[in-house]
Amino acid sequence: MTDDELDVRAFANEFRAFMKALQRATPPPEPTELARRLGEHLGADPGELPVTVESLPSYEQANVQAAMDAYLAGDGIEADLIGVVGSGREHQGFADLVDAARKHGQYDLGAVDYATVSVGVGKEQACVNFGLYLITTPEHRLAALVRLSGHRRAVPEMLIEVMCSDADAARQFLRTIREYTVKHHVCRGQVLSFESYEYGDGIGPLRFHERPHVDAADVILPNGVLDSVHRQILGVAEHRDRLLEAGHHLKRGVVLFGPPGTGKTHTIRHLIGAQPDTTVIVLTGLGVQFIREACSLARLLPPALVVLEDVDLIAEERTMSHLGMGNPLLFQLLNEMDGVAGDADIAFLLTTNRLDLVEPALAQRPGRVDLVAEVPLPDAAGRRRLLSLYGVSAHLTPDEVERVVSSTAGTTGSFFAELSRRADLLAATAGDASTGMSHVSAALEELGKSRYAVSNAIAAFRNSGGLPEEAHSTASPSPAPYV
Ligand SMILES: Nc1ncnc2c1ncn2[C@@H]1O[C@H](COP(=O)(O)OP(=O)(O)O)[C@@H](O)[C@H]1O
Ligand SMILES: [Mg+2]
Repeated sequence: MTDDELDVRAFANEFRAFMKALQRATPPPEPTELARRLGEHLGADPGELPVTVESLPSYEQANVQAAMDAYLAGDGIEADLIGVVGSGREHQGFADLVDAARKHGQYDLGAVDYATVSVGVGKEQACVNFGLYLITTPEHRLAALVRLSGHRRAVPEMLIEVMCSDADAARQFLRTIREYTVKHHVCRGQVLSFESYEYGDGIGPLRFHERPHVDAADVILPNGVLDSVHRQILGVAEHRDRLLEAGHHLKRGVVLFGPPGTGKTHTIRHLIGAQPDTTVIVLTGLGVQFIREACSLARLLPPALVVLEDVDLIAEERTMSHLGMGNPLLFQLLNEMDGVAGDADIAFLLTTNRLDLVEPALAQRPGRVDLVAEVPLPDAAGRRRLLSLYGVSAHLTPDEVERVVSSTAGTTGSFFAELSRRADLLAATAGDASTGMSHVSAALEELGKSRYAVSNAIAAFRNSGGLPEEAHSTASPSPAPYV
C-alpha cells in the first residue's frame, strides 16, 4: 500500500463522519403542505396507500375532462381540485411525488395547469394538464392525479393515478371514468380527421370539421350510381333494425373509383351531409396509418362513417414492424375493417384514382367491400348538367350549350366548376355586365392550354427519365376540404 492510498482512505472516513455530523445537526425536512393536505383528505398516511393507474391516449384529454366533470356532478360527490408544483414532477409517479413531499419536503400545493383543447369546430375547452382531485363520495375518499404526460413515454398519454385506502374503490372509480369518456365523448356525431403527431410517432390532435352540405341534385353522376351508393350507405343505416332482425350485417364497405376531379370527394361530402348524427372520421393518404384508431373510435361512437381517401397512396406503402418491413398498409386497413363486428352500424368509404393498384389487395381480402362504384368522366348528358349546375348555361343559348358540351369531352366535373369561375372572372375583369359565350370560349381556351401545358411538361419530364410511365398525367385538383 502506498502513502497516497492511505491518504484517500483517511479522507473518506473523515468525510463520512463529517456528513453524519451534518445530518445530526440539520433537522429532517418537514412534509410539505401537499403531503399534509393529502393525508388529511384520505384519513391515512398517503405513503402507505396503493395507487391504481389508468393510461389513455393523449387525444382522450377532452374526454377525460368531460368524464371527470360528469362524475363530479354526480349525487353526493364533492371534490377539490388542487395543483402540484415542484421541478421534475412530470418524471414522477404519484406515489413517488407523495413520497418526496412527505420525506424530502419536495412538491407542494400550487396552481392547477390547464390546456386548451379543441372539442368541435370553433369550440374549445379548458382541460386539466396537471391537477389533483381530492374526491369525497358517500362511501370513499379518493385522490386522483390527472395529467398529460409528455416525457415519461415517447408518445404522450393521459394518466389518471388514483390513491385510495380501498383499491377496489379506486378500480371502480377508473371503470366509471372510462365508461364516461365514451358516454360523454366529444367526437360523438362530429366530423373529424386525425393529424399526425408533429414531433414523433402517434396521433396528434384531432381536427374537427364543419359538416358539409351538398344536395343530391348537385352531385352529377351517371344514372343509378348515386342510388346504389345511397342504398349501401344511407339505406342500411335507415333500415338498421329490420336488417339486423333478419340476421344481416350492417358493417359495409364501398369503393368509389375514377379519375381525379370526377366527384368522389364531392359525393362523400354529400353522404356526410345526408347523415347529420353520424360520427365521421376522415383519413387521407398516409393518414390511413391511423386506421386502427379510426376503427376503435368508430366502434365506440356508432353510427359511424370512416372515410379513407386516396387509398392507392398506401397500396405499396409498408407498415413498420419490429421485424423489419411489415405488410402493405392497405392490407392492415383491410384487416382492421374485418376486425369490426358485422352488426356495428359502421360504413367504410374508400376512394381511389387507381383501382388497378388497389384491386389485387381487395381480391386477396374478399368480403370487406360490398360495392365498387365507378365515378367516371361525365358523358355528354353529364356535361350538360354540369354546365347548368355551375351556372354556365344561364349565359348561353341552347346552341352554344351544345357546342360547349361537344368540345369538352374527356373533361371532369371539377373542370366545369373551374370553367364557370374563369368565365365569370374574364367577364368581370373586362368590365362586361354579364358573362357570355365569348368569355366561356376564352376560358375554355385558357383551360385547354393549361391542361396542354401540364401534359407537355409531364411528357418532357417523363422523356428525361424522371417519371414512371404509370404516373398519370392528369393534374389532380387540390382535394375539396371537408370544412
Ligand atoms: N360529378 C360531379 N358533380 C358535381 N360537381 C363535381 C363533380 N365532380 C367534380 N365536381 C366539382 O369539382 C370539385 C372537385 O371534385 P372532387 O370531388 O374533389 O374530385 P375527386 O375527389 O374525384 O378527385 C368538387 O368540389 C365539385 O365542385
Ligand atoms: Mg378526392
